Amino acid sequence: MSGYAAAYQRSLDDPEGFWLEAARAIDWTREPTCSLDGSNAPIYRWFPDGELNTSYNALDRHVEQGRGDQVAVLWDSPVTGSQRRITYAELLDQVARFAGGLSSLGVGHGDRVLIYMPMVPEAIVAMLACARIGAVHSVVFGGFAAKELAARIDDAQPTVVVAASCGIEPSRIVEYLPMVEEALRLSSHQPKHTVMLQREQHRVELGEGYVDWDVLVSQAEPAAPVSVTATDPLYILYTSGTTGRPKGVVRDTGGHAVALAWSMAAIYDIGPGDVWWTASDVGWVVGHSYIVYAPLIVGATTVMFEGKPVGTPDAGAFWRVIAEHRVKALFTAPTALRAIKRVDPDAAELSKYDISCLQTLFLAGERLDPETYEWAGAKLGVPVVDHWWQTETGWPIVANLRGLDPMPTKAGSASVPVPGWDVRILDPQGEPAPEGEDGSIAIKLPLPPGALPTLWGDDQRYIDSYLSRFDGYYLTGDAGFFDEDGYLRVMGRTDDVINVAGHRLSTGAIEGVLAAHPAVAECAVIGVHDELKGQLALGLVVLKAGVVIDPAVLRDELVAAVRRDIGPVAAFRDVTVVEALPKTRSGKILRGTMRAIADGRDEPVPATIEDTAVLDDIREVLRRPDRAAGIGSNN
Ligand code: COA
Ligand code: AMP
Repeated sequence: MSGYAAAYQRSLDDPEGFWLEAARAIDWTREPTCSLDGSNAPIYRWFPDGELNTSYNALDRHVEQGRGDQVAVLWDSPVTGSQRRITYAELLDQVARFAGGLSSLGVGHGDRVLIYMPMVPEAIVAMLACARIGAVHSVVFGGFAAKELAARIDDAQPTVVVAASCGIEPSRIVEYLPMVEEALRLSSHQPKHTVMLQREQHRVELGEGYVDWDVLVSQAEPAAPVSVTATDPLYILYTSGTTGRPKGVVRDTGGHAVALAWSMAAIYDIGPGDVWWTASDVGWVVGHSYIVYAPLIVGATTVMFEGKPVGTPDAGAFWRVIAEHRVKALFTAPTALRAIKRVDPDAAELSKYDISCLQTLFLAGERLDPETYEWAGAKLGVPVVDHWWQTETGWPIVANLRGLDPMPTKAGSASVPVPGWDVRILDPQGEPAPEGEDGSIAIKLPLPPGALPTLWGDDQRYIDSYLSRFDGYYLTGDAGFFDEDGYLRVMGRTDDVINVAGHRLSTGAIEGVLAAHPAVAECAVIGVHDELKGQLALGLVVLKAGVVIDPAVLRDELVAAVRRDIGPVAAFRDVTVVEALPKTRSGKILRGTMRAIADGRDEPVPATIEDTAVLDDIREVLRRPDRAAGIGSNN
């Protein structure tokens, strides 16, 4: 049996033993004696009697082991023209002080802290400082607008908000203070304080209720790490679901630390002293797991990049960072490579840099199209490893395990189920789909450590959203099939979630904004193929009877409304006015059928359709030649 097969089998046959063994990579203040608590199934808890502190595991223990002078965070910010190298000893000091500052503002164990920050090292400091004192952080991506921020403030009810004065996009300074002020105006919950990091690119006047980061830290006593139970939440990360209301994915403390440490060795082949770069954002799960927690827990050097793959200053930014910092492995989203390929198809910029240090390119967050897979492999000359996972799971479900047992990579597939994940393909009745045929990708419970134990404050919503469709399984929301080599091919979402430039969005949330326009009678938002961003949201709107409006004016108003209410990250630009939307005879809009058409999938038209002519019209809109390449086809 191969190393992979043996590990996979053992993880399913003896999950308790497998994960207790993996737990040895973590320093516990109280060693766990058992791994899985299923007494409240289907809500499972890992390492229920273990106690630990994640910031201790990410910082103190490395300093104690003599690696205090090693660089922990290497910040490279072409948009500000700066770099910073922060050693483990320095990061520990900054985290302990900021943790002390948070305590002085009344933040304690279990309290929430909402973090709304760009890609600056202080975002990592704030996250680890929360972990240090047992507070629960909730990081919100900077591309979301005030209304989205307000929804998260109301759900998480933070004691403190931590923000920076600005983010920096290549074309503009993103002012955070007006966004925070607007969010606090919209939210019913009011935090006690807002801590503001002043960036020199845009300093702001702070009013009542605001605390300057530097002042707070200068007056703070360093805080020691507190021991928390393994099942205590480390963070809440909101993600888009089917409805407009975001889901607060909870991450526990112990299972998360164990799973991430295991993944760094087995999947990414990264250990102490290695330089690892995840080009994503701390506001996404990829950033939480693989910019912040995993590399620091294993004592690696994590590169934090504030910039874009192209235009900061050219299409060679990624290669420059790899060469300059001797990056061993890069993890990013395929869209970043598509952006580079579009500007520099021959990768001419590469010739300026020596990237011989790079051993592997990891890609995730959206489907990896075969062209990008081939291009990256040919240009970089390293294995291109697609892997598939989600905010909910926290770490990869399906991957090519470079540290445990490297396998051949193949275009169109993220390879094989990772130990711990019992991945099944189910038909609509919940029966195993015939071999080689596609169906819903589901995971047999219990999920391994590191996966979400529940949704914040709402066990029932967790059960209803993920565990009710198929008894005994977690529903991923993706469709796919296993090929003849046992490799999983992910075909796309089966729900109203879309993926725009690696950013996960809810079509339901965008529909909510369109529907609020006075001229709109009804609407549907469908993800359509886009060469660069993978998918883009297309708004199909039906006007109210008697309304006369210039479609260009309507489009501009709707685009502005989505940008105002959801944020620039929605990248919403495409609106088509249609006569009618396809519906069943009982009046249900056929979103699934429209999605299948947009994805290029052949899905039977429901027998209950009200008017097939309407569907034919919509088919033409969805399959305009420029949208012809179906995203669901993996070949
Ligand atoms: N704060 C404020 N605005 C932001 C933002 C942020 N943190 N991030 C993006 N935006 C804005 C952009 O400026 C852009 O605004 P515009 O409409 O005025 O041009 C808009 O949101 C859309 O951004 P995006 O679709 O991300 O395009 P981009 O050209 O800015 O960046 C990529 C392209 C490929 C670099 C970027 O999409 C990316 O890094 N994607 C990967 C996401 C990811 O890491 N996912 C996790 C899996 S690895
Ligand atoms: P997020 O929660 O933002 O990480 O988005 C998760 C979703 O992105 C998944 O459910 C998939 O639909 C999609 N996704 C992530 N990685 C991949 C991948 N490697 N291949 C195909 N789709 C992916």
